[in-house]
Amino acid sequence: MKNLLLLAMLGAAAPALAATPQDILQSHAAEAKQEDASFKEFSASRGERFFHAKSAKGNSCATCHTDNPKAEGKHERTGKAIAPLAPVANRERITDPAKVEKWFKRNCQDVLARACTRQEKGDFLAYLLSVK
Ligand code: HEC
Repeated sequence: MKNLLLLAMLGAAAPALAATPQDILQSHAAEAKQEDASFKEFSASRGERFFHAKSAKGNSCATCHTDNPKAEGKHERTGKAIAPLAPVANRERITDPAKVEKWFKRNCQDVLARACTRQEKGDFLAYLLSVK
């Protein structure tokens, strides 16, 4: 009983939202399964193509993030530097689910003029995690 209480207290003291990129990818997979019973898996190679694909507007994710997710990017309009996207090059990446969602929302709108689908987000995250 005492031990249980101690565990509960330790749990409460831990940072609430700390997550690894793997956790975040897995929660996307769990949601994909819930949304679509026929869902199998995400594809890093499809995510890679998505990253480089030119939109109707002529831009892509790589426009700001460069062709290399390990490289520092540059915002196409403001010119501001953007730290590398790949977790292997930037340990802060894909560790905060709310931040990931916020930028998916903004950037997908910017490039595709719509929200990204679950499959697109998961494929893209699988790609970023596969970068060595
Ligand atoms: C107009 C420039 C621009 C384009 C185009 C763009 N991004 Fe970004 N992206 C940013 C900026 C700015 C940030 C946030 C700055 C930072 O965190 O360093 C960001 C952050 C992110 C993050 C946050 C990751 C994290 O955990 O911190 C993800 C994921 C992301 N972008 C994915 C994409 C995808 C997918 C596309 C293509 C659909 C895309 N971006 C296109 C500018 C852009």
